[in-house]
Amino acid sequence: MITESLIQHDNEPKSNSIRRTVSQYVARGHKTYTPTQLVVERAEGVYLWNPEGRQFLDFSSGVLVANLGHAHPYFEERYAEHTKGLPRNAYNMLTQQEAEAARRLIENVGLPKLNRVIWADSGSAAIIKSMWAAQHVYPDRPIIVATRYGFHGKKGLAGDVTGETSPNPNVRFISFPTCDHCTLVPEDKRCDRVTCEPIYERELQELREQHRDRICLLITEPYLGAKGSFHPPKWYLQLLNRWCQEHDIVFILDEVQACHGRTGNMYAFQSYGVEPDLLVLGKGIGNGEPVAVVVGRDDLLDPFDYGECSDTYSGNPRACAAVIAVFDAFERENVVENCQKMEKLMRRGLHELKGQFPFIAFVRGEGLVWGVEMCDWNGKTASQIANECVLRSYEEGLHLMGPLADKVLRVSPPLVITEAQVQEGMEKMGRAFARIEGR
Ligand SMILES: Cc1ncc(COP(=O)(O)O)c(C=O)c1O
Repeated sequence: MITESLIQHDNEPKSNSIRRTVSQYVARGHKTYTPTQLVVERAEGVYLWNPEGRQFLDFSSGVLVANLGHAHPYFEERYAEHTKGLPRNAYNMLTQQEAEAARRLIENVGLPKLNRVIWADSGSAAIIKSMWAAQHVYPDRPIIVATRYGFHGKKGLAGDVTGETSPNPNVRFISFPTCDHCTLVPEDKRCDRVTCEPIYERELQELREQHRDRICLLITEPYLGAKGSFHPPKWYLQLLNRWCQEHDIVFILDEVQACHGRTGNMYAFQSYGVEPDLLVLGKGIGNGEPVAVVVGRDDLLDPFDYGECSDTYSGNPRACAAVIAVFDAFERENVVENCQKMEKLMRRGLHELKGQFPFIAFVRGEGLVWGVEMCDWNGKTASQIANECVLRSYEEGLHLMGPLADKVLRVSPPLVITEAQVQEGMEKMGRAFARIEGR
């Protein structure tokens, strides 16, 4: 992995100076690595501008946060209105905004059994609170089940259920379909329900036989994001959901990244036909304002006493105002429908690129969350190629996040992107990749 701490680019004097200062004063571990280190000075719609005035098409949405794009006019107008006159913090106070944000969230999620919220100030904090809730209700059930290679955050319990190994002795990982790389079945049988479902079913049965009524919760993501964009067949998540229901295990669905239209439905549980007991939302729900939430069953969330999961910032007036303003914008504009339309173009465009460039191994995705996996080529590793793709795309005026899992490009523009802008992104990637191939 490449980890230079000071990156500089030609003809970017102000950006380079900012990069130097950040590298001098901010610890490297604070940022995930990107070979570009774009310095942003202004953002509007699907575009970003650096201090030198160069424009970049944003294919990252921050980190899948700005689903409405940047400085969305109606969101900003509503946000200003909803925050007007309020204190930034209302600890030990109530606001109209909190009441409305909670009501709108529960109504919008629309699953009758999910009728309470608990706020958080980050996705991982909301994940931790959801797990606490299950543990609080079932203190005599120590076992936590998580799907392997998931990402739920870095801190505490959220970190314990991330990845493939855990420092927590009570965590048990189960298989999650990564069909392109599946080693469980032969290549021609991959993703075939008849062949694959019994394999996952058996694993769950064995786990249950081993731990009986000592399993407290199962946590999973709709798709594996950080591991490289693996989107499972619907039957897989439905199997997990059924297993939890049959054995009274709390089913936690981590939609921190997948919520608010990203998968082509408002929520990913709708895309996959499942009904979690605790639904965790983040990122897109505030379009950039740091806010996350657990929406869950009252019998799971109500047993907490006053203060047991409160903290300084959770549910603050600005966070709640952002949640409301996002709903206002989603209700006025056809954001989800636009995502569905753009998904088709994105799918076609990325597969065309795969057909053109020998170093693209796989294209995977849904809605507007896609992964483009690189392979070793021409003496270069997949990781080197992925990093080069990010860098060359930057030179073409396209901003991509640093690669996922070392070798997968994440493509996740704001959901308000237009047809012409998707096309612009494909052309920029095409030109960037052609330079890598030496054309
Ligand atoms: C699926 C998922 N869960 C949890 C998190 C953690 O959220 P946060 O970084 O806001 O703590 C992330 C962040 O990328 C995520 O993608």
